[in-house]
Amino acid sequence: MENVRLRKATTKDKAIAVGFDYRLDKEEHIKLNRQEKITKAISNDECFLILADDREVGFVIFDYRFFDQGWIELIVIDEKYRGKGIGGKTFNLICEQCKSDKVFTSTNSSNTQMQRALEKAEFSFAGELKGLDEGDPELFYYKKVKRI
Ligand SMILES: CC(C)(COP(=O)(O)OP(=O)(O)OC[C@H]1O[C@@H](n2cnc3c(N)ncnc32)[C@H](O)[C@@H]1OP(=O)(O)O)[C@@H](O)C(=O)NCCC(=O)NCCS
Repeated sequence: MENVRLRKATTKDKAIAVGFDYRLDKEEHIKLNRQEKITKAISNDECFLILADDREVGFVIFDYRFFDQGWIELIVIDEKYRGKGIGGKTFNLICEQCKSDKVFTSTNSSNTQMQRALEKAEFSFAGELKGLDEGDPELFYYKKVKRI
């Protein structure tokens, strides 16, 4: 997948973004009220559809709520498009559009695919936080944004 780009999601894209998240984990989607989270992110201009060769393959929520630094809140790529480098390219595009010095994100210790994608995109490990998900610590990563 060479041609990966981001398009700011509008209210018309809500169903597609919600669908990606629902297919990822139906129970969590309902329990964590992710439809509302996605709706809010769209209305705040913080949700972006991920397009690979002009096809919608996932979405990413990006804001500045983490100590005023760029923060990847959530990224979901549809199952059949994972492991093809699209996540890594999405992180690069987020870094390009970031208006702060650094981009941060976090993932569960059990999510090796996310960790691998972040490491491939040259994110550095920032630390571990226990207590959020019992027995599955949250691992934080960051990358300095290069300015020309
Ligand atoms: C996490 C996610 C965004 C990464 O995007 P991606 O497009 O799959 O990532 P990339 O292809 O850039 O890199 C993934 C790496 O993990 C590897 N990988 C693929 N499947 C894997 C698996 N089951 N376990 C571990 N590594 C795996 C890939 O091979 C690739 O490494 P490689 O190039 O050395 O082979 C995507 O997999 C996803 O949407 N997962 C489900 C939702 C999720 O977990 N989101 C993050 C929440 S914090």
